[in-house]
Amino acid sequence: MATVTVPAEARRISGLEAVRAFLADHGIHHEIWPLEDRVDPAAPAERILAAYAPEIDELKARGGFVTADVIDVYPDTPNLDAMLAKFAKEHTHTEDEVRFILQGRGVFHIHGTAPDGADTVFAIEVGAGDLISVPRDTKHWFDLCDDRRIRAIRLFQDTSGWTPHYVEGGVHEGYMPMCLGPAWVPGSRGAAP
Ligand SMILES: [Fe+2]
Repeated sequence: MATVTVPAEARRISGLEAVRAFLADHGIHHEIWPLEDRVDPAAPAERILAAYAPEIDELKARGGFVTADVIDVYPDTPNLDAMLAKFAKEHTHTEDEVRFILQGRGVFHIHGTAPDGADTVFAIEVGAGDLISVPRDTKHWFDLCDDRRIRAIRLFQDTSGWTPHYVEGGVHEGYMPMCLGPAWVPGSRGAAP
């Protein structure tokens, strides 16, 4: 379940209602979707997408998404460092970034505006069961935790897929991902990918 950290205030927010309220104040939408009682989160991608079709179709209708896929990252994924480096620099997208986490975990940093208008950076650690939607044009970046494992459903408006627009002078270098949730246990690979 998602946890929020605000480094400048040495503040940590946990608990579903508090996290959701903080994120809503900053324009970030969060939901919890069912996991094992719907489908084995390690099932093949086609089964995952079929199992969550009602939620995916609703998001597509609401957000103008046309495609969904399942991304799988393991510590031994080829070229993992190069892939992670692309996510880990401050960037924006021209569409909402919507992710539903099936396995593993990771940290989104958001460089946004607080309700009082001040510039702010905060981190959202997401894990299995979390759906997060980062609105288009929001400055953000993403890191895995030390276990370097995540499996997530992604939705796209643009069929060409994930396209970052990097922010000049991005502030990402001043922040490290701080992961608190349960680590992925190697060997729980299941049927995936
Ligand atoms: Fe992104």
